[in-house]
Amino acid sequence: MEVIYLTVGICKQEMLQKKNAVLVDGVILNGPIMDSKAGEKFVEEACKIIMEEVIQKADDVTEKVCEWRAPETLKQILDLEMRDTGESHQKLLQLCRDVIQYSVKTSHPRFFNQLYAGIDYYSLVARFITEALNPSVYTYEVSPVFLLVEEAVIKKMIEFVGWEEGDGIFNPGGSVSNMYAMNLARYKFCPEIKEKGLSGLPRLVLFTSEECHYSMKKAASFLGIGTENVYFIKTDERGKMIPEELEKQVQRARKEGSAPFLVCATAGTTVLGAFDPLDKIADICENHGLWLHVDASWGGSALISRKHCRLLHGIHRADSVAWNPHKMLLAGIQCCALLVKDNSGLLKKCYSAKAAYLFQQDKFYDVSYDTGDKSIQCSRRPDAFKFWLMWKALGTTGLEERVNRALALARYLVEEIKKREGFQLLLEPEYANVCFWYIPPSLRKMEDGPEFWQKLHQVSVT
Ligand SMILES: Cc1ncc(COP(=O)(O)O)c(C=O)c1O
Repeated sequence: MEVIYLTVGICKQEMLQKKNAVLVDGVILNGPIMDSKAGEKFVEEACKIIMEEVIQKADDVTEKVCEWRAPETLKQILDLEMRDTGESHQKLLQLCRDVIQYSVKTSHPRFFNQLYAGIDYYSLVARFITEALNPSVYTYEVSPVFLLVEEAVIKKMIEFVGWEEGDGIFNPGGSVSNMYAMNLARYKFCPEIKEKGLSGLPRLVLFTSEECHYSMKKAASFLGIGTENVYFIKTDERGKMIPEELEKQVQRARKEGSAPFLVCATAGTTVLGAFDPLDKIADICENHGLWLHVDASWGGSALISRKHCRLLHGIHRADSVAWNPHKMLLAGIQCCALLVKDNSGLLKKCYSAKAAYLFQQDKFYDVSYDTGDKSIQCSRRPDAFKFWLMWKALGTTGLEERVNRALALARYLVEEIKKREGFQLLLEPEYANVCFWYIPPSLRKMEDGPEFWQKLHQVSVT
């Protein structure tokens, strides 16, 4: 005992003097894990820094978007090393300030990176709440409120897709949603794959457009389908999949003896913002018995707008849809749903592992709310909550205004580009993507040709 007294801190000494101290291997088990008063003070002061340095400066155009430093310089500025002993309260607060100072303020009005749209205060607060509560949406007993919220949000999103019923799961991204869908379509095509694996299967082939998101390739390689078995369908001058080309490729795959099983259409392509003709693609899928997945990670938000939802005409005919409210709707990264038309438990059948320690079937509540077994994850964040709180705050009309405003801003930018010398619009946008070239004065009189394009490509780099 004395030896222990010599090596413990003041707090531990006090505890040991208490009669009821429980000591195991030199560890006091019934003492505080950490100094909660100091912890609470740290949270309070750090929140003040977040409020002043991130949130209040978020809409101030006079503030910098980022204090950019090259990696080697930044390594010298920041104290990145982790040491044996912890840092002081003041040092930690300074570290927080440093991190904020040299980070990119993605909510800044002059931050023009891909697919960001600004700050939403309600979804931000929802994130604070969930970070503080630290729930995991695998079982109802751990996340009663958040699971009901997820159910309500998925139901509402399904309504906007135009299905009478369906299922869904929030997951860490559009890329993951696409992967979920690809695997689900394959499971539907050959359910025995879950137990037997890939051996003995025919060569499975899927179809997507040349303009699809790169996650299609990733998913195909990750799932063992192989990138060569992704047939990229030609697009028209606007970047939309050409249905006749799809038909040809499906027939080609059949002639080759392969097994076509899935078409992944895109509603809102990443670069051009193109919407594939879903109705015509759905006809082909129906004729050939193919699963139709629509990657509406980017374009799905247009469903909320009565003015622009026609862009996704035919989406109700899809078997699954990926939709990211963290993009145009501002729900904060990550907030992504995979929606599935099937309501017979396909998602669960495909993904469940029935872990007996977690998903006991004889719990005292409706275990269908233990949605964790529908997921490829075990621990899962309650991402639907940030969308829900934001939706509660703005109402559907507020969300609709957000979409309409984004598209109106795109129109405005197009008009400005047309007026300005040296700017060349690539195509009239149908969504919020505005693609244009900036031609510097030195190239404006140059003839179109390889040299011109080589020089033009250097413009954004230099
Ligand atoms: C069309 C499309 N699909 C999928 C994704 C991937 O989404 P995430 O970044 O959430 O993985 C993106 C992202 O840019 C996208 O534009």
